Amino acid sequence: MNHPARLVVLVSGSGTNLQALIDACADPAYGARIVAVGADREDIEGLARAERAQIPTFVRQVSDFETREGWDAAIATVVERFEPDVVVSAGFMKLLSQDFLDRFLTLNTHPALCPAFPGMHGPRDALEHGVKVTGATLFVVDAGVDTGPIVAQVPVEVAEDDDVESLHERIKTAERAMLVDAVGRIAREGISVEGRRVRIGAESR
Ligand code: GRF
Repeated sequence: MNHPARLVVLVSGSGTNLQALIDACADPAYGARIVAVGADREDIEGLARAERAQIPTFVRQVSDFETREGWDAAIATVVERFEPDVVVSAGFMKLLSQDFLDRFLTLNTHPALCPAFPGMHGPRDALEHGVKVTGATLFVVDAGVDTGPIVAQVPVEVAEDDDVESLHERIKTAERAMLVDAVGRIAREGISVEGRRVRIGAESR
């Protein structure tokens, strides 16, 4: 791990998780800096946030490549250029190839308490199931959908009058704090992943 740790953040949308990391990295004591922000589409607020913070950006759109494998290779190549210690997928809506995951320690946030409610609709599925507590999970990305070893989790209570939007917004507030806290600790103290057990504070990476 470099000091400060080098982060590449991948986004597909509004980028509020990215903004939380940008704000945290403004303090040198945080121990990390964002060396690039990448996206799979143009014209998103996540890229605008990076540009305002004068962070280099890149876009690789699947539709610009003849094959999905071509896109997989291109995203790995451009990320490699920035020599990240950690890649943070923060609302990035594409699955990354096994080759990418073998090359880069990649973390992702999911707006549910894994292994419950994986996939694109964590808040909706939790609400429909009638759970009283849901939350957010930070995990090491593996080949599955939201199945990787868990780094951190935060619970969020479901309110009687929640709809999908209000619940997701409250989850996102907790998710951002969890992400900032865990990524900072990883940057300062290191991380070890053995099977499904993740430990922060073990300088194995
Ligand atoms: C987050 O809730 C993330 O977990 C989910 O999409 C949302 C992204 O929000 N995959 P933002 O783009 O960081 O604002």
